[in-house]
Amino acid sequence: MSSQNIFILGIESSCDDTAASVIHNGKILSNVVANQKIHEAYGGVVPELASRAHQQNIVPVVHQALVQANITKDQLNAIAFTRGPGLMGSLLVGTSFAKSLAYGLGIPLIDVNHMQAHILAHFIDEEGFNKPPFPFLAMTISGGHTQIVNVKHHFDMEVIGETIDDAVGEAYDKSGKILGLGYPAGPEIDKRAQLGNPKAFQFTKPKVDGLNFSFSGLKTGILYFVQREVKANPNFIKENLNDICASIQYTIVSILIDKIKKASQQTGIKHIAIGGGVSANSGIRKSLKDGEQKFGWTTYVPKFEFTTDNAAMIAIVGYLKFLEGDFAKQDVMASARLKI
Ligand code: KG4
Ligand code: ZN
Repeated sequence: MSSQNIFILGIESSCDDTAASVIHNGKILSNVVANQKIHEAYGGVVPELASRAHQQNIVPVVHQALVQANITKDQLNAIAFTRGPGLMGSLLVGTSFAKSLAYGLGIPLIDVNHMQAHILAHFIDEEGFNKPPFPFLAMTISGGHTQIVNVKHHFDMEVIGETIDDAVGEAYDKSGKILGLGYPAGPEIDKRAQLGNPKAFQFTKPKVDGLNFSFSGLKTGILYFVQREVKANPNFIKENLNDICASIQYTIVSILIDKIKKASQQTGIKHIAIGGGVSANSGIRKSLKDGEQKFGWTTYVPKFEFTTDNAAMIAIVGYLKFLEGDFAKQDVMASARLKI
């Protein structure tokens, strides 16, 4: 088969987004995501509701991805799916759907690690976006993950730092909950942070050895601070919301930048890529850009639709594995704690 004409369907269902995407030789033809609004009322993802919503969404989402790509399922060369990590009930929906479809069409099945996919999203062919050269450092920051990875090659990655408790997106979302903001709170905190004074309030940064992160102490610190201030002035949050958001953002961004700086010094690698929902954050983007001047970094931020959970990143990994002939067997199992 010519390596020039490969169509792969990617399926992602690890958390609360049901997504499907068709890639043709490294270029995305469609990228469909069904968000599950149902979790907003609970202020976080409810696993049982997520898997039920995936079951309802998966057929129409895959159908839509094929329609938008303007191909039929008979033109597909392989099906790639997220094997893990993620919520078991959610992963099972995508895994069993992918297995049946590949079996029915008589084409190869390709298992994908969600965390590798966040990183390899940088290898999607997209005008105006450069692919990082090996080796590079990838910082994956989202509601479920916070990692620094030394990427030596597409499938040769080493996690050199990760959170020992909450993910950075959780720190945003839990802080938002304390402040009475909606879920997820990251985007609103970011918006307000740009209008506030980052030095208005001071929060203690955690002391964690090496390249690991911790965010649960910060969340508790913010909770106690807000409780104390509200006791003295019931309107404290309303009167200071932008400054509180700016101060939280300042603290979180400096925690992330300190560690990536340390990782760059330790490894001597100056190509820095980010991925995951939190990479939309204006403070992180600005600090990374500043690092280009200050530390001689070259930084890589993927197109927004490839940073949050999506299936295009699953499809690109499918394509790269297809080229290597790296296929999964029909008895492959979803794995909630799959490691890089
Ligand atoms: O990658 P993602 O869509 O889903 C996973 O968690 O895997 O990331 C969602 C997270 C949420 O915690 C959300 O609050 C955060 O990304 N987020 C942001 C911003 N946009 C999304 N956090 C800070 N600033 C933003 N602009
Ligand atoms: Zn993710």
